[in-house]
Amino acid sequence: MKTKIIITGGTGYIGSHTAVALLESGYEVVLIDNLCNSSINTVGNIYSITGLRPKMEIVDLCSKKECDEVFNKHGDAIGIIHFAALKAVGESVQKPLRYYQNNLTALMNTLDSAVKNKINNFIFSSSATVYGQPEKVPISEQEKTKRPFSPYGNSKKIGEEIMEDLTLVNKELSIISLRYFNPIGAHKSGFLGELPTGTPNNLMPYITQTAIGLRDKLFVFGNDYPTKDGTPIRDYVHVLDLADAHLKALERILNGQNESPMEVFNIGSGKGYSVLDVIYAFERVSGQKLPYEITTRREGDVPELISSADLANEKLGWRATRGLEEMVASAWEWEKKLR
Ligand SMILES: NC(=O)c1ccc[n+]([C@@H]2O[C@H](COP(=O)([O-])OP(=O)(O)OC[C@H]3O[C@@H](n4cnc5c(N)ncnc54)[C@H](O)[C@@H]3O)[C@@H](O)[C@H]2O)c1
Repeated sequence: MKTKIIITGGTGYIGSHTAVALLESGYEVVLIDNLCNSSINTVGNIYSITGLRPKMEIVDLCSKKECDEVFNKHGDAIGIIHFAALKAVGESVQKPLRYYQNNLTALMNTLDSAVKNKINNFIFSSSATVYGQPEKVPISEQEKTKRPFSPYGNSKKIGEEIMEDLTLVNKELSIISLRYFNPIGAHKSGFLGELPTGTPNNLMPYITQTAIGLRDKLFVFGNDYPTKDGTPIRDYVHVLDLADAHLKALERILNGQNESPMEVFNIGSGKGYSVLDVIYAFERVSGQKLPYEITTRREGDVPELISSADLANEKLGWRATRGLEEMVASAWEWEKKLR
């Protein structure tokens, strides 16, 4: 019999790539999503890649009733990977209650249903934003978390605290929180990728949408940071490497290899690239010039965020394998296929 894993937010960007990785590794997969930021077509696209169709449940995890029903139906699952959340940093500053309400209610309802159904293995999508403005880079998991700049980031920090509290009383629960740095890229098939609604928050879709002609130009927010070219430096990680990290984290807890009830791992490449590095990489792989304009700094942006991925390497046996040009090229292929 196959082992059933529930993926919340499963039709989203990272969830769908992780679903493919799990299906290809022989797991039975149930996707739960309310489709507020993704499309039902993703299920067919996952089938096109894998030849396997995950079960799909359209459920708003903020509804306790709907959440309980779907977890009772799939109470034979042995693990949950929880991606479901709203993720637009800027919007969260404008609408803090919407972000706290959605991200924390969905998390608490899912955890409650997990406990009731004795689904004791739980992976959580966290973010490097929990480090706030770090004292130094590369950032290791030993670094103290700080209040993030946005309600979105804070919902991740509070989420980790809620889970920590829960593991103190629910001794059977094993949780791994993965703190992603900057996920970019798309599936090599061209069937899956990032589908931002409205104006993209993240650099990569902004670049590809500008290059395809959806936007006039790219705005680079500040070139007066204390970095090599003045633009902020980030740690980009290919979404396929990220999907693989989830598989490895899941297997660690399923095999009982975790060393504490709640573990935390950075998931990044350990390498930093500036905004201009990414623009130039895009120009190299696409063969076209990108129109961009340097403008003023954006509130909340820190100069440099680079992970130390050593712990993930040591404990999960994971390391990012794909370089910047491969990430950028796959995102560009995805954009071209969309239009
Ligand atoms: N993409 C990034 O840059 C990034 C970085 C760090 C952390 N994360 C986290 O990773 C996770 C996945 O991110 P993503 O980029 O795939 O985002 P995404 O928006 O593509 O996927 C999230 C999915 O969750 C669903 N969802 C949201 N609220 C829900 C609810 N109440 N009930 C059911 N479904 C709900 C959405 O419809 C969407 O399909 C999120 O938790 C996000 O905060 C993302």
